[in-house]
Amino acid sequence: MRTKVGEIKEKEGKEVLLRGWVYRERSTKKMAFIVLRDATGTVQCTFKKDSPGFEEAKNTLVESSVEITGIVKKDERAPGGYEVMGKDFKHIHKSEKFPITEKPSESFLMDVRHLWLRSEDMRKMLKGRQATIDLLRDFFSSKDFYEVQPPITTQAGVEGGSTLFSLDYFGDTAYLTQSSQLYLEAFMTLLERVYCLAPSFRAEKSRTSKHLTEYWHLEAEMAWFKSNENIQFQEEMISHVAQGLAENHPDTLRYFKRDPETLKKVKPPFKRLSYTEAVEELQEKGSSISWGEDFGTGHEKQLTSDQEVPVTIYNYPKSIKPFYMPKDQEDGREIVLCDDILAPEGYGEIIGGSERIWKLDELLSRLEEDKMDPDAYEWYIDLRKYGSVPHSGFGLGLERMLMWMFKRSHIKETIGFPRTITRVYP
Ligand code: 4AD
Ligand code: MG
Repeated sequence: MRTKVGEIKEKEGKEVLLRGWVYRERSTKKMAFIVLRDATGTVQCTFKKDSPGFEEAKNTLVESSVEITGIVKKDERAPGGYEVMGKDFKHIHKSEKFPITEKPSESFLMDVRHLWLRSEDMRKMLKGRQATIDLLRDFFSSKDFYEVQPPITTQAGVEGGSTLFSLDYFGDTAYLTQSSQLYLEAFMTLLERVYCLAPSFRAEKSRTSKHLTEYWHLEAEMAWFKSNENIQFQEEMISHVAQGLAENHPDTLRYFKRDPETLKKVKPPFKRLSYTEAVEELQEKGSSISWGEDFGTGHEKQLTSDQEVPVTIYNYPKSIKPFYMPKDQEDGREIVLCDDILAPEGYGEIIGGSERIWKLDELLSRLEEDKMDPDAYEWYIDLRKYGSVPHSGFGLGLERMLMWMFKRSHIKETIGFPRTITRVYP
C-alpha cells in the first residue's frame, strides 16, 4: 500500500512504498540522493551503490514521476526529521530535462506557470489559500449563511461601466461580471444571509502589484443589516481567518516570513476612521488631498504602513462611490453609508461594502443622477417593489487578503494562473 510523505513519521523502521515526483537529485559514484515530493511534503531517499534501484535513481531527472520503496529511518539532520533508505526505484515516467533551472527570469516563469506551480513557493501558497477558503466557509456556516451560485455572464455593470469585459452573446452584448452583488441581493430576499465565492472580472488598465483582471471575490449580502453591523461582521470575518491561520498554519505563515503572532493581533474592532477623519489624518501627515478625492495607493500606504492590523474607513463622499449606496449627510456634505477595509502595512483595500438603497424612489433617482439606463436594471429595481427590506453587504478580494496575510509582494503570487492586462496564457 502506498504511504504518503506526510505519514512516514508513523512508519519508522518499516518498509514503505512512496509515489511522487523527483524534486531534487544529486549523486556520487557511491550514493544517489533523491528528494521526493508528493502532495503532502518532501523527503530525502538515499540509495547506496549496492542497493537495487541505484542505477535508475542515479540516472533520473528532476520532475520524473517515480515509485520508491525503502525503509524509514529517523535522522535529525534530514529536513523533516526522517529519511528513507532506498531499496527500489521505478520510473513511472522519466521526465525530459525540466526547463526551469537555477536563475529563471520573471517573465519565463510566467510563460511556464503550469510547471512553476510545482515550486515550493506555489505549493505552500496554494495550501495557504485552501486553508483561507476553508476558514471563510466555516465562518459563514457558523453564522447561518447559504452559499449561492450567481451567474458569471450578465447584462449590467455593478461598479461602473469602464472596466467591463464584453462578449458576443449570440448577437447580443453580454459582460463578464464585475461583482455578484446585484444577484446576491435577489438571493437575499429568500435566504436572508447569503454569500458566494466566485470570479469577478475587471478590465482595468492598471498595471500594479495588486490588480488582476480576473480575481476571486467573496461577497456577502445580509437582510436587515445596517452599516455598523456590516462593518462589525466584516471585521469578525477577517479576524476569524487571521486567528485560524495563526493557530493552525503557523509553519506556512513562517515560510513566507509572516509572524503568526502578528496575525493573532487582528481582533475587532479595528481602527475605525470616517472618510473625513482619514482625510484629516492624511493632511496632518503632509498630504495635499482635499475632501471629496478618492484615496490612491499612496494615501492607503500613508494610512496603514505603520499599522499591524487593518483600518476600517467608513462613509465616503457620494461622488466617488457607486449608485447603490444610500445617502447621508455629514457637516452639510453628501456622504454614503459604506466602508472599505484597508489591510495593514500598506497592502491596500481588501474589502468594499455598504448598505444598499432599498427604497424604490431613491434607487430610481440615483440611477437617473448617475445617468444609468434603468432598462438594464429592471429586475434589480423590481426587488424594491416586492417586499423590500433594509440590507447590507460587502466584497472581499481573496487574493488581496492572501497578499497581506502571507506577506507576498505581488498579487500574482497568490493564485495559480494569474490573469493580468498582459497575460492570459497559459
Ligand atoms: O470595492 P469593489 O469594487 O466592490 C464591489 O465590487 C462591491 N460590489 C462588493 C460588494 O459590496 N458586494 O471590490 C471589492 C473588493 C476590493 O476591496 C478588492 O479587495 C477586490 O474586490 N478587488 C480586486 N482584487 C484584485 N484585482 C482587482 N482588479 C480588484 N478589484 C477589486
Ligand atoms: Mg472598492
